[in-house]
Amino acid sequence: MAKYTISQLVLNWYHEYGRKHLPWQKNQTLYTVWISEVMLQQTQVESAIPFFKKFILRFPNLQALQKATLDDILYLWSGLGYYHRAKNIHKAVQIIYEKHHGKFPDQFLDIIQLPGIGKSTAGAILSLSLNYFYSILDGNVKRILVRYYGIISPLKNRITEKKLWNLIESITPIHNTRQFNQAMMDIGALICTIKMTKCYICPLKQTCIAYKKNILKQCSLQSIKTIKPKKISWFIIIKFYNHIWMIKNTKKNLWKNLFCFPQFDNENTALEWLKEKKIHSNKIKKLISFIHKFSHYILHIYPILVEIPDFLPFYDQNNNSIWYNLKKPQHVGLPQPVKKIFTLF
Ligand code: ADE
Repeated sequence: MAKYTISQLVLNWYHEYGRKHLPWQKNQTLYTVWISEVMLQQTQVESAIPFFKKFILRFPNLQALQKATLDDILYLWSGLGYYHRAKNIHKAVQIIYEKHHGKFPDQFLDIIQLPGIGKSTAGAILSLSLNYFYSILDGNVKRILVRYYGIISPLKNRITEKKLWNLIESITPIHNTRQFNQAMMDIGALICTIKMTKCYICPLKQTCIAYKKNILKQCSLQSIKTIKPKKISWFIIIKFYNHIWMIKNTKKNLWKNLFCFPQFDNENTALEWLKEKKIHSNKIKKLISFIHKFSHYILHIYPILVEIPDFLPFYDQNNNSIWYNLKKPQHVGLPQPVKKIFTLF
């Protein structure tokens, strides 16, 4: 049998089995690929699809997005997590208007300077939208390379990163770069998965070292495992008919600029606050507590529902609070646990 190079094997596989109908593969532009790649940075394809569709429907191009406030973007991002991505998109649009006359740049060095875009995302944008010759090195591609080349227990560090970049750049073809890059991500997501790999249908199995030597387990990126710390938050949910009182989070944390219930470190301070604000109710109920996992800690959430009989005109100096209307929701960003609690009402 004629010997094929890895890129030929990957491209042959792509023509028959590669994904060609993902929503961001239709009417591709630099803009739509940018939005999809940012969404896909920390989110799986299946979860990103409905968010991408909604986003493009609301903001089909840069001109539409330029008019958006950060709240408008966060509203569409609600539930997707890693909200700094939405903030970076908002910032990037301003830069594109100031520096590039409102046209998404098509030069690698310009793209990589936009907030939230690293080497791999810049390569993805240019190769997937314009078929330019740039490689992608995301988690899927890294997993394939480590297994294919039989790299034993590589540490997640800069040396390994450099080595993997060299490898991917050495096998990315000049022609059909778009198809090759897409196929590598597809093989990583569908065949060369983290668990339950499907080596029996893999186009690379004849030459894959981990497969041939049966050392798949040893060939995986090693991150130093740390136990995630626990944090606690008590949510006070003040409800008046279909309205919930919410505050814009101005603290510099993962939920910055999202609207949330008043939050407290413990039950006492939460109840004290109710007293202080003269909020009286005979309908105070502890809801079921639950956890929300962040990349660096686990948040234990204790929600208390306080239903009030009379409307209270709350004020804060900075106008950062709203009576959120459950029947006709305002377009603001909400963290996932808040959305989860709303499903109870
Ligand atoms: N992960 C990151 N980018 C992707 C893409 N364009 N298709 C599938 N998975 C991806």
